[in-house]
Amino acid sequence: MKFNPFKLERFFAQYEFTAPYLLCTSDCESFTIKELLSFEENSQTRFENLSLGYTDTRGNPALRQAISSLYTTSNTDNILACTGAEEGIFIFMNALLTSRDHIIIQSPCYQSLYEIAKSIGCSITQWPMNPNNKWELDLEFLENSITPRTKAIIINFPNNPTGYLISRNSINRIIEIARKHGIYIFSDEVYRFLEYDEKDRLPALCDIYEKAVSLGVMSKAFGLPGLRIGWVVTSHKTLIEEMASIKDYTTICNSAPGEFLAALALRHKETILNRNLGILASNLSYLRMFFTKYNDFFEWVPPIAGPIIFPRLKFTTDAHVFCQDLVEKKGVLLAPGSMFSYNKDHVRFGFGRKNMPQVLEHLEEYLDSYIKCKELE
Ligand SMILES: Cc1ncc(COP(=O)(O)O)c(C=O)c1O
Repeated sequence: MKFNPFKLERFFAQYEFTAPYLLCTSDCESFTIKELLSFEENSQTRFENLSLGYTDTRGNPALRQAISSLYTTSNTDNILACTGAEEGIFIFMNALLTSRDHIIIQSPCYQSLYEIAKSIGCSITQWPMNPNNKWELDLEFLENSITPRTKAIIINFPNNPTGYLISRNSINRIIEIARKHGIYIFSDEVYRFLEYDEKDRLPALCDIYEKAVSLGVMSKAFGLPGLRIGWVVTSHKTLIEEMASIKDYTTICNSAPGEFLAALALRHKETILNRNLGILASNLSYLRMFFTKYNDFFEWVPPIAGPIIFPRLKFTTDAHVFCQDLVEKKGVLLAPGSMFSYNKDHVRFGFGRKNMPQVLEHLEEYLDSYIKCKELE
């Protein structure tokens, strides 16, 4: 099995811990262990006495119990805990797909969602979101792309990098199409629970489609990527068994401290999500002012969920050169669209961190000096 380099992760490896002002991260503001432990009485003593032996390969029962509270139909047998969402993607693809299969994947997207399938030898159809129509997807395109070899449709809402959240009606239609052809759906839901209005939240696909796998994680909505705890959920019994047996070759089981803290955090999910939604709402109000002021530089689609947007640059056609110059001159990191193998004139903004307004000021300084230079030319 050979993998192409993971462009975005290689980019982060270069800059994430050296650039002082991150404006493209996809997670929400994090918590310290101390803050998490303060949510429950006696948790510090319980944490200190935690055994560091192997954990249950399916995930600690207390963790799976806490995860099951995020779903309407799931019981703990339908849940397989894994190391980050990344492992969930890897074990799903390796459990289900062979080189004879075809998959359809929403595009642009997080690279591993197609790269793992590619490394298995699958043929891949990219299902494009329309930048000229608020990133909407064409459902006819989906239906027309299905072949007798199509094994799975891969979706991600709210989407990374565009921020797009599909409607409930369209999700129902996708399920109808998949059911008609007996196709699996892998639904990456790592940004779920970050809908600004709860009524826009889609049901988890594993709750409404028997051949769906839902992917969740502590990293994004809950702001706890350092725990490295994710999960896959499906009512499809054979598939979950097959994913569990692939996991025997990747991590066997999760980190015990990570599982303990993830279960604790999920028992207090409302507190965590309310704080993170508050940060997003406040940062969005700054972004609205920013994009109004710099209307000549960016065209954006105001999101209804999630911590990410993918504006188009109006002042240059090379986002990579812009991002490079910005980080060198002002220490502000934006992610160019090329990290998502997408058009050269888009950049990903992430606005889940508390310091976003200060970081935005540094970007403004850069843009103001760009304007001055242009005036002098
Ligand atoms: C859509 C999507 N899926 C999966 C992942 C992987 O998440 P994790 O870092 O928790 O493994 C990411 C991370 O950015 C993502 O954006």
